[in-house]
Amino acid sequence: MSRSSSVIVVHGGAFDIPREERDAHRDGCHEAMEAGWTVLAAGGSALDAVEGALRLMEDSGIFGAGRGSSLNEDGTVELDAGIMDGTDLAVGSVAAVQGVPHPVTLARRVLESEFAVVVGHGAARFAERTGVERCDSAELISDRERRRWEERRSQPDPDWAVTMFGARGGGDTVGAVALDFRGNVAAATSTGGAPFKPSGRVGDSPLIGAGLYADNATGAVSTTGHGERIIPVVLAKTAADMMSALHPQAAVERALATLGRVDGLGGLIAVDRHGRVGVAWNTPTMAFALRSSDEASGRVERSGPA
Ligand code: GLY
Repeated sequence: MSRSSSVIVVHGGAFDIPREERDAHRDGCHEAMEAGWTVLAAGGSALDAVEGALRLMEDSGIFGAGRGSSLNEDGTVELDAGIMDGTDLAVGSVAAVQGVPHPVTLARRVLESEFAVVVGHGAARFAERTGVERCDSAELISDRERRRWEERRSQPDPDWAVTMFGARGGGDTVGAVALDFRGNVAAATSTGGAPFKPSGRVGDSPLIGAGLYADNATGAVSTTGHGERIIPVVLAKTAADMMSALHPQAAVERALATLGRVDGLGGLIAVDRHGRVGVAWNTPTMAFALRSSDEASGRVERSGPA
């Protein structure tokens, strides 16, 4: 079925984005949104649009994903990503994978396979088998993150959870949701996780229901923030379910309020099956960009940090 509207929303994380980094976060989100929009405008699928948008963000070095990822306690980049197609509820996730610059594309290969989740060394091998680009792990370590890791290491008792998810925390995980002209929705989320995390630690981002969800019956959601708090409230699925009765803006706000029960910080983006959008966060700032084309409302564009 052909629709008259199409939408993409991307986020670059919800946290206290330093003032001097806000322009880069806004521009990075905008560029990723435009990349996803180009796919949609050409009649491409929501799934291709969210993957394309996140590939750009994983390459940018601005966000805590792909080449901008923070380092774990061993000084290594370990990546998590998930992707979901609302058409048939197909899912693919990878976690704690090293040496893969585009974990969102690896997650897509998992989605296309008979599996749902592949982790660790097995995920890197899965990349090799399915022709997904690999690189030396060291290539994913940026100068910025190496410096931050050195600083944290020299502190007397570096505590990754406090550093990353302290009073004003959150994180610069990236995510995207889209609705295509055929009426299909998709969601994807990608992250390097929390700085100084223990090796093997996995947050919410690749977990279907927590870090992302997509169902043509309701809509698509991607989340960001403190994984250990987002997981117990199953934030993405909570918001998606609420969209069956509420406007997406009301749904994301009500879902975000559930984080209060676990003292959680974060944010989320959503698009429903009608093309309506929701964006909410409980951190000082959130980076996002959205574009929507609708016969009734015309082109809508909005972006933050806000
Ligand atoms: N939301 C990212 C993480 O907790 O790893």
